[in-house]
Amino acid sequence: MDLPSLTIGTRTARLPIIQGGMAVRISLAPLAAAVARAGGIGVIAGSGLSPEELAHEVRAARRSTDGVIAVNVMVAVRLFKELVHAAIDEGVDMVIAGAGFSRDVFSWCHDAGVEIVPIVGSARVAKLSERFGASAVIVEGCEAGGHLGTDRPMLDLLPEILDAVDIPVIGAGGVVTGADIKRVLDAGAAGVQMGSRFAATVESSASDAFKQMYLDATSDDIVIVKSPVGLPGRAIRNPFVERLERGDVPRIERCVACLKECHRDYCIIDKLVKAQQGDVVDGLVFAGSSAARIHDIPTVDELMARLVEEWREASEAAAEPSAGPV
Ligand SMILES: Cc1cc2nc3c(=O)[nH]c(=O)nc-3n(C[C@H](O)[C@H](O)[C@H](O)COP(=O)(O)O)c2cc1C
Repeated sequence: MDLPSLTIGTRTARLPIIQGGMAVRISLAPLAAAVARAGGIGVIAGSGLSPEELAHEVRAARRSTDGVIAVNVMVAVRLFKELVHAAIDEGVDMVIAGAGFSRDVFSWCHDAGVEIVPIVGSARVAKLSERFGASAVIVEGCEAGGHLGTDRPMLDLLPEILDAVDIPVIGAGGVVTGADIKRVLDAGAAGVQMGSRFAATVESSASDAFKQMYLDATSDDIVIVKSPVGLPGRAIRNPFVERLERGDVPRIERCVACLKECHRDYCIIDKLVKAQQGDVVDGLVFAGSSAARIHDIPTVDELMARLVEEWREASEAAAEPSAGPV
């Protein structure tokens, strides 16, 4: 029994597993290339990078694998166009666009022969994406880490999105084991996107302190925070989040205007960079609700082998005839 492969447009990955893009600088070339080499789709997060830095990461990943490499950029960032073009110019296979909807990105990608995969939180946006020429959509539920576009769980949203479109639908949010993958595929998805589980791997570019926050977190510690992007976000409670909850964080007056629109409650990029670099007291540690089920820091190879094995065990257990009354 083998996990099915995942075809998105003209690109096929041996395993139906996308490693979610994680900004700022959590998923860079080392993580994305390791995932692509192991048979999944590796995603470099572009938000918060300069176009030159993103080009460098794509080049590094491209040099170390001929597997499927994607770039994730939030539509909300001011340099969205420049970042997408930098990734396309370096030969990325796929662009994944989250936190907003851009019509332009479809023509940029189509012109370059690059697959475009929007992240959606409703059947309406999934349909719109298909109409504009999306190769697949990722449906992200409220369990996910990072910015959230919906308050509904992924398995609740999935059926209506599968009904709405004919392109492959990928489920994201709350997937950390092979048994979770089986549940999402059984519900009709073509694959899964996993973020938190990959943030806590050896190849993730998060600091050791960031990864330790994942290992220590219980479900009570994983909370919804307000983000200046204008969307809620999911993160691990720490002194910064406690200050945010008390309304005790000074608004920013001057900045580099990295977002198209910013509520300026605090600088999201600054807080994400701090956490990535190891300041988990004053930084913001984005994490999905499933981080409470993460208890180790494997290498990507170890993790991928484990996911396949867990999926196989769950599939064989489901296939066994149940023992009836004797
Ligand atoms: C630390 C972190 C950073 C993230 N950054 C981004 C991002 O920059 N862009 C994006 O579209 N999604 C981002 N996400 C969401 C992931 O790509 C993925 O969809 C999500 O984590 C799936 O849920 P899971 O964490 O339960 O697996 C982030 C998630 C985490 C945990």
